[in-house]
Amino acid sequence: MPITPAVVEAINNQIQAEFQSAYQYLAMSAWFHENNLPGCAHWMNIQWQEETAHAMKLFGYVHDRGGAVTLQAITAPEHTYASPLDVFRAVREHEAWITSRITELYDIAVAHRDLPLQIMLQWFISEQVEEEAVVDSIIERLQMIGGDGPSIYLLDRELGGRPGGDAVHSSTAEQH
Ligand code: FEO
Repeated sequence: MPITPAVVEAINNQIQAEFQSAYQYLAMSAWFHENNLPGCAHWMNIQWQEETAHAMKLFGYVHDRGGAVTLQAITAPEHTYASPLDVFRAVREHEAWITSRITELYDIAVAHRDLPLQIMLQWFISEQVEEEAVVDSIIERLQMIGGDGPSIYLLDRELGGRPGGDAVHSSTAEQH
C-alpha cells in the first residue's frame, strides 16, 4: 500500500518529537544526577532510551513503507527545575503533548485512509496510556511525601530498579 508524501511528512515530524522527548529526559537524568538522586536519574535514563526506541520504530516504519526519513533539528532541552516533583510534573505535561501529537497523526492516517499506519499507531496509543499512568503514580507519591525528606530516598531507590534492558549507564551510581 503506497504511503503519501503528506503522511511521510507527518511521521517525520513525530520522529523529531520522539527524539526531542528523548533529549529532554536525558537532561532530566542529568538534573537528578546533579541533585544526588541516582535512582531517578536511572529512571530518566531508561525513559531516554524508550523515547529513542519510539523514534526508531517510526524510522523503521517509514522505510518499510517505501518512504524517506528526513531528520529534523532538535533543540536544547529545559534543564532547570525546582524539585523532583517539578521534574515529574514536566514529564506529565510533555507526555500529554506527545499524546495529542499521536492523536493528530492518527487523524492524518484516517484522513488519508492509511490503514497500516492506523494499526501501527495503536501501539503508540496504548503506550501513551501506560506512560501517563506511570507518571501520574509517581507524582501522587511525590505529593504524598512532600517532595523531600527521607521518603524521597525510598522512592529514589524504587525508581532505580526500573528495568530497561541494556541500559546505557551514565554513572556507576545508577547501576543498582
Ligand atoms: Fe514516545 Fe513518551 O512518548
